[in-house]
Amino acid sequence: KKVVLAYSGGLDTSIILKWLQTTYGCEVVTFTADLGQGEELGPARDKALLLGIKPENIYMDDLRETFVKDYVFPMFRANAMYEGLYLLGTSIARPLIAKRQIEIAEAVGADAVSHGATGKGNDQVRFELSYYALKPDVTVIAPWREWDLSSRTKLIEFAEAHQIPIAKNKRGEAPFSVDANLLHASSEGMVLEDPAEEVPDYVYSRTDGPESAPDKATYITIDFKEGDAVGIDGKALSPATILTQLNELGKVNGIGRLDLVENRFVGMKSRGMYETPGGTILYMAHRAIESITLDRGAAHLKDELMPKYAELIYNGFWFSPERELLQGLIDKSQQYVTGTVRLKLYKGNVIVVGRESPYSLYDKELVTFEEGAVAYDHRDAQGFIKLNALRLRTLAQRKKKMGL
Ligand code: ARG
Ligand code: SIN
Repeated sequence: KKVVLAYSGGLDTSIILKWLQTTYGCEVVTFTADLGQGEELGPARDKALLLGIKPENIYMDDLRETFVKDYVFPMFRANAMYEGLYLLGTSIARPLIAKRQIEIAEAVGADAVSHGATGKGNDQVRFELSYYALKPDVTVIAPWREWDLSSRTKLIEFAEAHQIPIAKNKRGEAPFSVDANLLHASSEGMVLEDPAEEVPDYVYSRTDGPESAPDKATYITIDFKEGDAVGIDGKALSPATILTQLNELGKVNGIGRLDLVENRFVGMKSRGMYETPGGTILYMAHRAIESITLDRGAAHLKDELMPKYAELIYNGFWFSPERELLQGLIDKSQQYVTGTVRLKLYKGNVIVVGRESPYSLYDKELVTFEEGAVAYDHRDAQGFIKLNALRLRTLAQRKKKMGL
């Protein structure tokens, strides 16, 4: 029996690796992706070798460009936010990891896949819905739902018994759980579990505090082509390079911190802290370029559909017909979303200061307070308002007549 494990090289997935070998008697194939989490892949390889994985069974991929180009950018075309605030940094990475795992499973003839998500969260759902959508007959092994390593102490004992190296600071209670990639870092659990208590400073890893950001504003421009960012300050850059540079700009200016209590798909509320520096800048810039290039009807329709689209991604339905249908609509809306946005970054704020596009629908002649264009006749407005007011006047008359 062969199983492809999504392996980070951390303590939890190392324990899972050993557990799959000892409990299931599986031949384990590890897959480690570089999604821009900010860790080298080398140590994960060394650790896998140390734990007895054959070199030909160790898979490593730099997926940063694919991640941004085929997952993050399509999602940002929709301005997707879950529950009004969360930019979905973890949610959008899971389908890509799952897809690669399945590709590797097919390549090596494995019939099972495994992941390190707990049995209480969203990630188990996202991984497994993606696995099943791509390989309907796959066997899923979710150790956190199966094993009896129910406490940190038992986990550490298991690690020690199997010579799994434990980082010094992991020996005691790890103070919180982190998931990171090029789009965000998310921290949850333990010290963060009381939503009344402010997140301690040491939890932040991707952003400087707005208090320590420079007193001088940073001005940048972002170029868009058909809804996607294609350059910064006039320089054409690859998707992953753009997000990397925006992350750096956001970090030093204290941008993109979010403390949120959200509703998990499985039913409970959870409190998390997100750092999405580049994503927050990109979100504001994308809305700004849309503001001049999208027609009102198209803009409002995609805004109505956005919460539905965001929920599909949050709940793990990336590989679903309904997400693809919405994506088709969203992508079509981006046909003329091309141009340049100018932004000012200052102490945690992203301030749009200018936008221009060859396809701009903004018409100064039409909107001006000065002597205006012929396409707009003030007298048309009178009838427009009167007809719209007809219902309201009827209602008001009834109210008056009935003495209400
Ligand atoms: N609550 C976020 C989500 O469901 C993040 C989950 C993973 N984060 C973590 N720190 N383990 O997308
Ligand atoms: C986990 O449960 O592994 C992380 C949190 C989540 O998936 O919601």
